Amino acid sequence: MNQRALSILRLLNDGQYQSGESLARKIFCKRATISNSLKNLDSYGIKIVKTRGRGYRWINPISYLNKDLILGFSSIDPSNFKITLFDALDSTNTFLLNNFSSGMIDNSCIPVVATEYQTNGRGRAGRLWHSGFGDSLTFSFGWRFDKGVSALSGLSLIIGIAIIRVLRSFSINCVSIKWPNDILFDNKKLAGILIELRSDIFGSSYAIIGIGINFKSSDIIKSSINQEIADLSAISDEYLDRNQILSALLTEFLSILPVFGDYGFAYFKKEWISYHAFERQAVSLILPNGNIIVGTVDGVMEDGSICLMTPSGRNSYHVGDISIRRNSL
Ligand code: BTN
Repeated sequence: MNQRALSILRLLNDGQYQSGESLARKIFCKRATISNSLKNLDSYGIKIVKTRGRGYRWINPISYLNKDLILGFSSIDPSNFKITLFDALDSTNTFLLNNFSSGMIDNSCIPVVATEYQTNGRGRAGRLWHSGFGDSLTFSFGWRFDKGVSALSGLSLIIGIAIIRVLRSFSINCVSIKWPNDILFDNKKLAGILIELRSDIFGSSYAIIGIGINFKSSDIIKSSINQEIADLSAISDEYLDRNQILSALLTEFLSILPVFGDYGFAYFKKEWISYHAFERQAVSLILPNGNIIVGTVDGVMEDGSICLMTPSGRNSYHVGDISIRRNSL
């Protein structure tokens, strides 16, 4: 999507009709440019109608991310965050990794980057993360640890806990976690977490933590994703504002991450297990080498690895994709 289209969308965001002529005047271009820029936006989940004599109307406008709104919610201390917002970006994780050197990741003023749209959103294990324009909350932040990366196992599970806590605080109780950190509703993915760790000299480290939460995915976006997804609009009767949820999440990270830094995942293990969608269930675990382990989930270890009761005993695993097995052993 080009910069012109992004500017026109901002003008059309009131959901009212605007003539091509007036749009063209406002962004200093020709009428034909307006019409060309607004073509083919359906693939981003954007629905614009053109009516003869009235002009253009964006029929599913969004509530844009807004720094003042994010920082304005009472729970947040603005001085703790440096928030940067974009209309479009390749990936918020990539942006932080490329533009924030180690010295710029400072927990007294946490860098946060959020965008309405990612052109190359990244998921775990080299997968893509796809969402439409303004239909999800896609953001990343940096957090410094005074330990090396080897001491950070369990971090991704902690971020899952933070998301569940925040969703519950908005009365969204029926969500769970699939190990290690997929947030599920009705067995469909509602949110994902991508953590990228970097070591520093002197044994410290930092994490770039990226989160994508689906808010209101259009059918076209849903059909472009190769798994069924859930979104908050289908779960909650109340309108949930992305600015408010982001604000609550940042507040929660500020509270949970120092405790994790001091006590590790062990401190949160019981709480995490209480959120696990597959606890005590028969599952298959596909390892990165393609081998499949079958077993019954029996909690997690203090380093965040998953425990399975298998035919060869109780074993724990650090990586892999788990899924429910319909036919037990
Ligand atoms: C996954 O479940 O595979 C992880 C998905 C993580 C997606 C988020 S969206 C914001 C941040 N930027 C990215 O490119 N990815 C993460």
